[in-house]
Amino acid sequence: MNAWKKTAVLALMSASVLMAKPQVTILATGGTIAGSGESSVKSSYSAGAVTVDKLLAAVPAINDLATIKGEQISSIGSQEMTGKVWLKLAKRVNELLAQKETEAVIITHGTDTMEETAFFLNLTVKSQKPVVLVGAMRSGSSMSADGPMNLYNAVNVAINKASTNKGVVIVMNDEIHAAREATKLNTTAVNAFASPNTGKIGTVYYGKVEYFTQSVRPHTLASEFDISKIEELPRVDILYAHPDDTDVLVNAALQAGAKGIIHAGMGNGNPFPLTQNALEKAAKSGVVVARSSRVGSGSTTQEAEVDDKKLGFVATESLNPQKARVLLMLALTKTSDREAIQKIFSTY
Ligand code: SIN
Repeated sequence: MNAWKKTAVLALMSASVLMAKPQVTILATGGTIAGSGESSVKSSYSAGAVTVDKLLAAVPAINDLATIKGEQISSIGSQEMTGKVWLKLAKRVNELLAQKETEAVIITHGTDTMEETAFFLNLTVKSQKPVVLVGAMRSGSSMSADGPMNLYNAVNVAINKASTNKGVVIVMNDEIHAAREATKLNTTAVNAFASPNTGKIGTVYYGKVEYFTQSVRPHTLASEFDISKIEELPRVDILYAHPDDTDVLVNAALQAGAKGIIHAGMGNGNPFPLTQNALEKAAKSGVVVARSSRVGSGSTTQEAEVDDKKLGFVATESLNPQKARVLLMLALTKTSDREAIQKIFSTY
């Protein structure tokens, strides 16, 4: 090859490297983002009715940003989410991110349990590459559907270098939230998500990504949880406290074979006295009882009105009951020792 040809080939090769788009896989699970209804001005619709191909075809602009591949993991409303789907999803995300060519994974998901799936992945994905969950509050057939812009923004977050090693994030309504902190706080509004204890970690406005801060708790590569050989997660039930509470639900959970109970207590995780006695008995029988709170923000602190050590309880600190359930399920795959589990809650 003469010198001129050599230079031309080298120039072509570096141009194609410069022009190569990042490869992103979108795993679809269902939800309103894949929802379809009969009227653009009525609230009724079916979640998860639209397949991943149609979902992606509705936002052609994402193909200018990345080479997108779509895979259907499930077609469910996220209120139907199960530990089995979490395990399948986490294993697939780990497989994909282990491939050199995959730069990021996006998961389209219903908003109802998105925070739990995000937190589960935050603790079980073994990669620093970006993992983004995205959903919608209005189905694709609604007037002013929010799904297309949310998906466009999610792809921009996924391919942004600053998203590396941020842990799993949720992108909704122009905001980026850390999986550990985000929660759904409104049943219908497009700004349904917030991170009550810490605030959002960034914004994404028509694709322009800006981070302000990041989650400080260990996640992904720094997490000790390994689900690669796990086929089933231990049963953990959530019991919601109220005045005149009883021991009925504690006993029902024990009878159903729960290995852990999250008690969504009043205020700083306080149980009603009769319920507390039943929880103490449960803890002393080897079931892990973790106190969380129905309040929605703040921490359920150790040794406040409740003597956790004496009663055998664990305090879930700043995790809400549904997130505490995820962490307790994972903790129970390693240990059922109270002190070890308290340490896990203080760490993650
Ligand atoms: C769901 O969680 O699947 C239904 C609600 C939603 O996606 O907003």
